[in-house]
Amino acid sequence: MYTAPHLVLPKVDNLRDINVYMANGGYEQYKKAIRMTSDEVIDTVKRSGLRGRGGACFPTGLKWSFMPKGNDKPKYLAINGDESEPGSFKDRQIFEYNPHQLIEGIMIAGYAMGIAKAFIYIRGEYHAWVSMMEKAVQEAYDKGVIGERMKTTFGGDYAIDIVVHKGAGAYICGEETSLMNSLEGDRAYPRFKPPFPANKGLWGMPTTINNVETIATVPAIFAIGAEAYASIGAPGHTGTILFGISGHVNKPQVIELPTGTPLTEIIYDHCGGVPGGKRIKAIIPGGSSMPPLRGDEIDGVLMDEESLKKLGTHIGTAGIMVMDEDTDIVKVTLRIARFYHHESCGQCTPCREGCGWMEKVLHRLDHGEATSSDIDLLYNVASNIEGNTICALGDAAAWPVKGFIEKFRDEFEARCKPERSFISLNVVHGRRNTASTLVSTTV
Ligand SMILES: Cc1cc2nc3c(=O)[nH]c(=O)nc-3n(C[C@H](O)[C@H](O)[C@H](O)COP(=O)(O)O)c2cc1C
Ligand code: SF4
Repeated sequence: MYTAPHLVLPKVDNLRDINVYMANGGYEQYKKAIRMTSDEVIDTVKRSGLRGRGGACFPTGLKWSFMPKGNDKPKYLAINGDESEPGSFKDRQIFEYNPHQLIEGIMIAGYAMGIAKAFIYIRGEYHAWVSMMEKAVQEAYDKGVIGERMKTTFGGDYAIDIVVHKGAGAYICGEETSLMNSLEGDRAYPRFKPPFPANKGLWGMPTTINNVETIATVPAIFAIGAEAYASIGAPGHTGTILFGISGHVNKPQVIELPTGTPLTEIIYDHCGGVPGGKRIKAIIPGGSSMPPLRGDEIDGVLMDEESLKKLGTHIGTAGIMVMDEDTDIVKVTLRIARFYHHESCGQCTPCREGCGWMEKVLHRLDHGEATSSDIDLLYNVASNIEGNTICALGDAAAWPVKGFIEKFRDEFEARCKPERSFISLNVVHGRRNTASTLVSTTV
């Protein structure tokens, strides 16, 4: 059984206290980084193979290299701690148990990209975690490890300021471009890309957005070395990752394990299996937006992006949701669809209207009022949302719906009433009232 390597989660008690953090080697990795050039720091992160932990798995060093060089205009770093996807609750572990490693990661990232100001954007509902992070940032200022005084503390001419920002309380605020609008004080509407944030981000200036766990991992890479980090876990998706396991397991938890750890090991060895020894009907591997896997296909599944991609799903935020044999799949799909309908910002038609239609059709299915053609209609609506929207919330809404239909069509069929039959084709107001027009008008 793999054990937790503790690169991101704390290895000692009370690491949230800056004195404990420093007594255990804290802020030493920043000293190492500033002895390198900024390009060498970026190259180290590239060689580690670190990929973003916010869901899209984008290579972190490559993202940093997109930032323009030079200091002719302000540049910004935004740390994404919005963490609002159902099934995802791992970033708050960092705020609570290892906030200084996040701050040290910000310092290294800031130095590498020549950034003098960083924002930590924290989910609006995370009141307690906002206070914890504010306390840690204040401690760092008081100790002179951030702000102007860091030049004296560590030497060199580099300094960074950090601002903790409480989010606006909506899932869409976590999408990187709407996060920027929210930080600027506007409504959190996603922006069109391009231009990408590295060219035109916060207040029109070059900006990098990274997830909390991504940045908190950076000091660990400098502590053990890029090659050592790259040797942990799956070759195409290296290192350790924070798995958050919820649902029908005996010990729901957040655990740090190498990428590529077998899914069954996580569920049965680390989480104590399923209550009552029941069978698993389905799992979602990475937060509610990812396509599910059936319980009978999880043997041998490795939890890294490349392995999951081959199975038609993704690691996402590594929030594993386990559903036992008694789970009502139609109700689960309806609940997920309701969430995305509620969270759609409404800017684009396929998402705004489509998410509502999906919820309505699923409601009909759940109440035994749908026919099997409604399942096809539902699949069709989801397919028309996917890939046709400004931001990826549209895909996030469509993928679980399509995935559950593909994997559990029998359960959807079992909830349908017999197909309606049409005795004649009526001409209503000069229009043929066919089955297809009836379906489309009853969405
Ligand atoms: C609707 C939506 C919500 C998102 N929420 C988050 C979030 O809460 N935290 C996060 O890090 N990324 C979130 N993302 C992904 C971000 O847009 C972005 O890819 C990520 O912050 C980049 O960081 P990384 O490269 O370190 O993964 C979300 C994306 C979408 C489409
Ligand atoms: S996909 Fe949905 S959430 Fe994203 S911009 Fe369009 S309407 Fe808004």
